[in-house]
Amino acid sequence: MIENKTYANKKGFNPLNSICVVTGGSSGIGLAIIEELKKRKAKKIINIDILRRDQDNVDFYKCDVGEDKEIKEVFEEIIKKYNTIDLICSNAGIARDDDGLATVEHWNNIWKTNVLQHTNIVRNSIKKMLLKKNGWFLITASAAGLLSQVGSATYSTTKHATVGFAEWLSITYGDLGIGVSVLCPQGVNTPMTAKIEKGGVAGINGMLEANQVAVIALDQMVLGKFLITPHEIVKKYIKIKADDTDKWIIGMRKLYKQFIK
Ligand SMILES: NC(=O)c1ccc[n+]([C@@H]2O[C@H](COP(=O)([O-])OP(=O)(O)OC[C@H]3O[C@@H](n4cnc5c(N)ncnc54)[C@H](O)[C@@H]3O)[C@@H](O)[C@H]2O)c1
Repeated sequence: MIENKTYANKKGFNPLNSICVVTGGSSGIGLAIIEELKKRKAKKIINIDILRRDQDNVDFYKCDVGEDKEIKEVFEEIIKKYNTIDLICSNAGIARDDDGLATVEHWNNIWKTNVLQHTNIVRNSIKKMLLKKNGWFLITASAAGLLSQVGSATYSTTKHATVGFAEWLSITYGDLGIGVSVLCPQGVNTPMTAKIEKGGVAGINGMLEANQVAVIALDQMVLGKFLITPHEIVKKYIKIKADDTDKWIIGMRKLYKQFIK
């Protein structure tokens, strides 16, 4: 593989003959990533989800990714069975509408799935990866983790934390043979958004299909990209936010009034 100096990852990720773990692989984006990994001839794919879905040539573990004990058991088994993990797509996630009155229980529930998932997975896999100087994390955050999610305090916050953790991971382990990419789409047609007309505020720039997102993610990982924004416009929004954050917040309040109030 060609070494590159343009992107944060020194080498790209090629799925050919790889051992890949996907969380949330029973539905939506995770399911589409599994299909794309199959097309690109991954050797073995392992789906970790709370919802069982039988798929050809895919191992399944029923596991709540927010529970460290469950993740520990599953990863011990996977490492024992395959001795290596080339890619972990830490992708499971939940979204809820809420506001400043969201309860502690509600926060803890979303925090565990959307944030502690990633820390649990890294804790239980990084030692082996560092030993082999091989392994890649594709972490699904959201454009909400770079911008915001009007109408959900928990989604905005947990997805910002996810982007922060992914950046930290790449800074810390990127020179030690570990690849990291963070996936930040806006609206995608999946069961998560199915009941929201045109994806609501997340669909303001158009909805993508899950398979399109999977293709873009894997294409950009081949190049070695860290930040993957399948909706191109997100990069423009980040610039607007960085240039004048106060103005950006005033603009976001207009969206709040339009979509939520
Ligand atoms: N759909 C969108 O518009 C969109 C946009 C940006 C980011 N995302 C993110 O993409 C990821 C996938 O979302 P999706 O749209 O495919 O949703 P989805 O609801 O179709 O799929 C999510 C999967 O995660 C699993 N899951 C949920 N909680 C779990 C837990 N605690 N342990 C194990 N598995 C669990 C579910 O069973 C489901 O199979 C999420 O992280 C989501 O936040 C989605």
